Amino acid sequence: MTQDELKQAVARAAIEYVVEGEIVGVGTGSTANFFIDELAKIKGSIKGAVASSEATAERLRSHGITVLDLNQVDSMPVYIDGADEITPFGAMIKGGGAALTREKIAASVAGKFVCIADGSKLVDVLGNFPLPVEVIPMAQRVVARKLAALGGEPRLRLKDGVPVLTDNGNLIIDVLGMQIPDPAAMEAAINNITGVVTVGLFARQGANVCLLGTPDGVRKLIF
Ligand code: A5P
Repeated sequence: MTQDELKQAVARAAIEYVVEGEIVGVGTGSTANFFIDELAKIKGSIKGAVASSEATAERLRSHGITVLDLNQVDSMPVYIDGADEITPFGAMIKGGGAALTREKIAASVAGKFVCIADGSKLVDVLGNFPLPVEVIPMAQRVVARKLAALGGEPRLRLKDGVPVLTDNGNLIIDVLGMQIPDPAAMEAAINNITGVVTVGLFARQGANVCLLGTPDGVRKLIF
């Protein structure tokens, strides 16, 4: 099976977590995109969706799915999203698509975080994937120095030689070379740096369920 087929399989499996007549939180990235395509098939049975990025909102709307502003929503039963890395304990690195802040906000409103990922994302220790940190532009250099002091190698994220801007108008610093044995402690430490908007560690509030795509089928991990 190709990686895309594995992503498609978990996207399909995630539909069982969508609650009829309710709002569903939707993540960002290639796996989330497959989920949106599956969600479109049952769009008549949900009230609408909360999007974790402009790109996701656009894809939802293109399928005729109602997109609600999070400020219109007090609670939602489930948030469904991919991950860049996930541990056997449900801690994740996210933000490869630069949507980490809105992802974390939307997930914080949901009763349950369902992670959908192909099997390559499961790791024992987080950190091989560069850790994304969203930063207020004027704080870029000072935050980079502090991230280096934590043992990482900070790199400003560029695309075609130009700094990537998040949907919130901020920068992304990717931190290379981090081994993160205690993700919750690292999440707190980085979030505490002045100028950091969000770190892409989802550990203090991690996944509740992970649907992992493997050649033998979809494995379900419950945390
Ligand atoms: C988006 O900012 C990320 O958090 C994604 O959820 C993560 O990068 C996974 O993306 P893929 O599903 O494309 O691997």
